[in-house]
Amino acid sequence: MEDKLREIEQQATSAIEKVDSLEQLEDLRVSYLGKKGAVTEILRGMGDLAPEMRPIVGKLANQVKGKIVNLIIEQEERLKEVAKNKQLAAETIDVTLPGQKQGVARKHPLTLVFDEIKEIFLGLGFQIAEGPEVEADYYNFEALNFPANHPARDMQDTFYIEGDRLLRTHTSSVQVRTIEDQEPPIRIIAPGRVYRSDEIDATHTPVFHQVEGLMIDRDISFAHLKETLIRLSKELFGADREVRFRPSYFPFTEPSAEVDISCAKCDGGGCKLCSGTGWLEILGSGLVHPNVLEMSGVDSKEYSGFAFGMGVERIAMLKYGIDDIRLLYDNDLRFLKQF
Ligand code: DAH
Repeated sequence: MEDKLREIEQQATSAIEKVDSLEQLEDLRVSYLGKKGAVTEILRGMGDLAPEMRPIVGKLANQVKGKIVNLIIEQEERLKEVAKNKQLAAETIDVTLPGQKQGVARKHPLTLVFDEIKEIFLGLGFQIAEGPEVEADYYNFEALNFPANHPARDMQDTFYIEGDRLLRTHTSSVQVRTIEDQEPPIRIIAPGRVYRSDEIDATHTPVFHQVEGLMIDRDISFAHLKETLIRLSKELFGADREVRFRPSYFPFTEPSAEVDISCAKCDGGGCKLCSGTGWLEILGSGLVHPNVLEMSGVDSKEYSGFAFGMGVERIAMLKYGIDDIRLLYDNDLRFLKQF
């Protein structure tokens, strides 16, 4: 029995030394020390030995077992170390390789203009309102004082959907929705996408963007409108631009005015950009027509208001000197990287 144990010890020692994977090591552990392992069998067979042999064999068996356990632990640590070094070597980073340059994203010029307009009006205490792009005829025209067959509808031909649904031609529809929903005082701007069935050219696209503005309170006069829009124009285009209010017509405002800024290219002298007039139109505006207030349930004797609406593409084109609206939609990085 003692010889047998010595033999097991020798075999195990050389086998454990030769092992080169943790799996093989585990197999060896099972074959010597597992439930049916060689050492376990001997310990289990102790009962068959002569009583005087038991302490001798028992002691030796436990020594052999202890030795095998230690060898396995040592070998396990060694194998783990080897595996770790191998992994570290595989993961080495060559810091001398050239890096991959990550381009920094930037905002689209339309987003820049939207952000700037929002910033100006949030600073004046306005809130942001929204409305649907698929709109009812009522909100896009009727409630804005364009009755059916009104000739001003012709200027805003659009895409008609089923029933009385259409793609909104302007953000002015949000004025009506806001007046219906909120009690005065009202101060909102409504940025958003609008549609017209226009042919595409350097200044038209069937989808474009507007920002609408609306203020309703007691005693709102043309002076409030002027102050607000002069401030907007100067913030957007610079304090040295002149601003003028030119009489105009919109069904939903009375009186109505278009706002022009002096042409930055010729400084008001007249050039191709401003068609020789020295002025560039930037938006439409006016005092809210009493019919619009009354139709949405606001007493026009108690309240008055002003409104305005501008095309965001046009503002961006004037501000950044872009001569073709299509550039804003081509997604050409050579163009977009300039902003
Ligand atoms: N909705 C007009 C358009 O798209 C622009 C406009 C003009 C809006 C005058 C207004 C306004 O709120 O008062 O042509």
